[in-house]
Amino acid sequence: MVTGGSRGIGAAIAERFAREGWDLTISARGAEALDERASQLRRHGGRVLAVPADMTDDEAVANLVRRHGDEYGRCDALVINAGMGAMGRFAELPVRRLDRLYQVNVRAPFQLMQSLLPALRTAADATGAAKVIAVSSITGVYPEPQLSAYGATKAALISLCETFNLEESRNGISATSIAPGYVDTDMSEWTKGEDAIPAGEMISGDDVASVAHAVTELSRWAVLPQAILSRPGENMHRA
Ligand SMILES: NC(=O)c1ccc[n+]([C@@H]2O[C@H](COP(=O)([O-])OP(=O)(O)OC[C@H]3O[C@@H](n4cnc5c(N)ncnc54)[C@H](OP(=O)(O)O)[C@@H]3O)[C@@H](O)[C@H]2O)c1
Repeated sequence: MVTGGSRGIGAAIAERFAREGWDLTISARGAEALDERASQLRRHGGRVLAVPADMTDDEAVANLVRRHGDEYGRCDALVINAGMGAMGRFAELPVRRLDRLYQVNVRAPFQLMQSLLPALRTAADATGAAKVIAVSSITGVYPEPQLSAYGATKAALISLCETFNLEESRNGISATSIAPGYVDTDMSEWTKGEDAIPAGEMISGDDVASVAHAVTELSRWAVLPQAILSRPGENMHRA
C-alpha cells in the first residue's frame, strides 16, 4: 500500500514497486488523478487497487484498510507517504495549522500502522518479513527555520517507527523512516527557482523510491530504523 500515491514521491515509489512486479493499493484524496495513476501502473501487469481517502478522515482510512484487506488479505509493505507541509515563523504560525499537520502526518500513520498490523503479520508469517516505510523529512531530524510544526510532526513519525520496531521487529515486521531534504515535487514548488534551489539540484522521487524498494529487500534480521537523504555540499544538515 502506498498512500499519497497519485503524484510526487508516492507516485515514484508506486511506479518502482509496480515495475518490480508488486500488486499495489494506492490512495490519495483526488479520485481522478488516482485512477489515472492506477491505469498507468497496471501497464506493468500487476493488480492495482485505487482507493480515494483523506488522511484527516478516520472512516476513510478505515475503509482504505478494509478494501486492501478484502483485495489481498495481507500487506507486505506499507508505505506511509501522504503528508502535508506548512511554513511560518513561530511568532505567526496559527496553532490550528499544527492540528491539521498532526492529523495527516502523525495520527493517520498511527491509525494505518495499527489497523494494518494483522495484514502485515500475515505477510511476515508467509514470507519471513514485512515492512513499514514512512516518508518523514530531514526537518524531523535537523530542525529548519519556519518549519517548526512540520518538523515536529515528522520527528513524531520517526518516533512512531522506532517504537514500532521495539514492539514488532521480533515478529518480522520492521519500520524504516526515510528523511529526505528537498525533493523535486509539487510540495517543494515554493522553494524552486534561480534565487532558491533549482529543481534539478533537488533529490528526485526516484531516489526516494530506490531507498524504499531497497528496504523491502532486507531480511527480517536486518532492521533499518532511519535513512537520511541529504543534498550535496553544505546542505548536509539542511532541507
Ligand atoms: N517534496 C519534498 O521536498 C519533501 C521532502 C521531504 C519529505 N517530503 C514528504 O514526502 C511525502 C510526499 O510529498 P510530495 O513532495 O510527494 O508531495 P506532493 O507532490 O504534494 O504529493 C502528495 C501526495 O499525497 C496526497 N495527499 C496530500 N494530502 C493528503 C491527505 N490529506 N490525505 C490523503 N492524501 C493526501 C496527494 O494527493 P491529493 O492531493 O489528491 O490528496 C499526493 O498524492 C510527504 O509526506 C512529505 O512531507 C517531501
